Amino acid sequence: MEEQLKQLQAEALEKVAAAANLKELNDVRVAYLGKKGPVTEVLKGMGKLSAEERPKMGALVNVVREDITKAIEEKQVTLEVAAIEEQLAKESIDVTLPGRPVKAGGHHPLTRITEEIEDLFIGMGYTIAEGPEVEQDYYNFEALNLPKGHPARDMQDTFYITSELLMRTHTSPVQVRTMLKHAGKGPVKIICPGKVYRRDSDDATHSHQFNQIEGLVVGENIRMSDLKGTLDAFAKKMFGADREIRLRPSFFPFTEPSVEVDVSCMCGGKGCSICKGTGWIEVLGAGMVHPNVLEMAGFDSTKYSGFAFGMGQERIAMLKYGIDDIRHFYTNDLRFLQQFSVHE
Ligand code: PHE
Repeated sequence: MEEQLKQLQAEALEKVAAAANLKELNDVRVAYLGKKGPVTEVLKGMGKLSAEERPKMGALVNVVREDITKAIEEKQVTLEVAAIEEQLAKESIDVTLPGRPVKAGGHHPLTRITEEIEDLFIGMGYTIAEGPEVEQDYYNFEALNLPKGHPARDMQDTFYITSELLMRTHTSPVQVRTMLKHAGKGPVKIICPGKVYRRDSDDATHSHQFNQIEGLVVGENIRMSDLKGTLDAFAKKMFGADREIRLRPSFFPFTEPSVEVDVSCMCGGKGCSICKGTGWIEVLGAGMVHPNVLEMAGFDSTKYSGFAFGMGQERIAMLKYGIDDIRHFYTNDLRFLQQFSVHE
């Protein structure tokens, strides 16, 4: 019996040493120390032994059992440490590897132009005003000296929602809304950027939706020369210090007198395809605020005067960057947009 026990112990210790992982080790434990294992079997046979032999054998069985248990426990610690180390090795991070580059987007050319113009006018003391794109006929037309049936309404083909509600055709209604807020008291000095809508067929130079920036200054003694000086500063900042402006008589129902403003072409007056040989490029409409518009917005036109101007960012961007088709701004071809994604 003693022999048998010694052999069992040797066998068990060998298997413990050979166990390659925690599961195998547990199998060894169950096989040798479990209820149906050989050590238990030996214990069961103790009844047949003589009285002197019994305690001797009992002690031996206990030693064997303890030895095996100890071996298993030790092996278990070793295997657990090995398992943790293996996992750490698998999950290790090389902190010296360069990071993956994150692709950053860029500003849309129209956003850049709008922000550039905003900065320029904020620098001259203007604040930014905004108004709704779904507008009332009253603000878009009537309060701008364009009563119902006025022939000049045809200049701006309109998307009507109801007979009184429309998609604004220009940013000029924000002039009216701003003046009303000032309740007859100057000065007013604002620019308003925003989207506008017209029933145009889209082509290289027309779009049913585009952007405008409106400017409005109302105060005492505001004169045409103030308008001219302001627009001259704008043109030089936007297109280059060597550029000139020229005012041509025009007509808008909400300004009197009204002008179209041209900027001298970058060809220096020699004539090129951009200015179609004239040396001048039309960039915006402007004029002195019509007394009727001032009065309708609650301003005393004998005390106050003002000027207003309106320009399209698409047109400015096309001239500044040499873009030949307005549709490029809206079709979102990345090859087009990426040319403007300079990070400032
Ligand atoms: N609202 C005019 C347009 O869209 C432009 C403009 C604004 C003209 C202000 C004069 C004064 O055509």
